[in-house]
Amino acid sequence: GLPTRIRIHEVGARDGLQNESTIVPTGIKAEFIHRLAAAGLTTIEATSFVHPKWVPQLADAEQLFPMVRDLENVRLPVLVPNERGLDRALALGVRQVAVFASATESFAKANLNRSLDESLAMFEPVVARARAERLHVRGYLSMCFGDPWEGPVAVDQVARIVKALVDMGCDEVSLGDTIGVATPGHVQSLLATLIEEGVHVSKIGVHFHDTYGQALANTFAALQHGVTTVDASAGGLGGCPFAKSATGNLATEDLLWMLQGLGISTGVDLGLLTATSAWMADQLGRPSPSRAVRALSHK
Ligand code: HMG
Ligand code: MG
Repeated sequence: GLPTRIRIHEVGARDGLQNESTIVPTGIKAEFIHRLAAAGLTTIEATSFVHPKWVPQLADAEQLFPMVRDLENVRLPVLVPNERGLDRALALGVRQVAVFASATESFAKANLNRSLDESLAMFEPVVARARAERLHVRGYLSMCFGDPWEGPVAVDQVARIVKALVDMGCDEVSLGDTIGVATPGHVQSLLATLIEEGVHVSKIGVHFHDTYGQALANTFAALQHGVTTVDASAGGLGGCPFAKSATGNLATEDLLWMLQGLGISTGVDLGLLTATSAWMADQLGRPSPSRAVRALSHK
């Protein structure tokens, strides 16, 4: 059967904004995060401590994090690619970090300037130190279904790296469909393989981009396998500057609409969230791609 409650890992402030070419003022980002928290989201990925030249939109991480870190009952994970990133995060009191691996060589090179094995070696001391500091560690795995350069990605290849991330000490692994090419049957076969190979479903999260309109169906397939951590982005913002064909993430509002219908609770207020995404769309100067946001905003 389906789970009765799920945890939404909100990525709008990080994945949602990282691809925006016009720099969003830090105060607007902070207000966005405060409004997401007020809507009831309890895991809000705040920013990335990556190289500022690689992702200029998130170069204000040092200014932004102190503006949100005192939010109560909210986890504020951040991305850290390496020890330099971890140092920056620890200096600000971050308690949740995420490393981000790739299932393919091509994207490891494009996103991290490393081979796949070199990037895993880069994460190892990051995860070890983060755990020693008692931080919660998420491992993202990108290109779990298809890659813009390499095409479809074999389930066994994905399983190998998921296990490497778990063995390294990641508390959870989020399966990324970075360019949004997955379909529900593929999701079912990957999850069945992972579970068969001994990865506990409580450690698995799903992260779907909605390029082909499959994100919600893919999420439903994952729920049927017992997954209870679902990544989504308010208003459907998102994309990756290092994977050209990536579009926005699964919209948090579209997800909430489906979950409401299924009687699965999340603690998030759909009205407050929709108003937040409509406000953010005004800041960015274009309408939200979320179907639910459009249907619910009568303007
Ligand atoms: P590199 O150029 O190979 O870095 O980049 P390096 O290790 O050779 O260091 C070069 C210089 O950068 C050094 O400075 C370092 O100190 C500095 P120098 O000594 O020359 O003066 N440096 C840093 N400065 C600040 N913060 C840091 C940092 N690291 C090094 N953390 C690197 C390698 C990993 C840093 C770079 O490739 C990078 O920042 N990549 C980030 C890419 C990124 O953020 N991508 C988007 C997120 S992933 C995603 O969106 C997918 C996801 O949503 C899931 C999905 O959808 O699949 C998560
Ligand atoms: Mg993503």
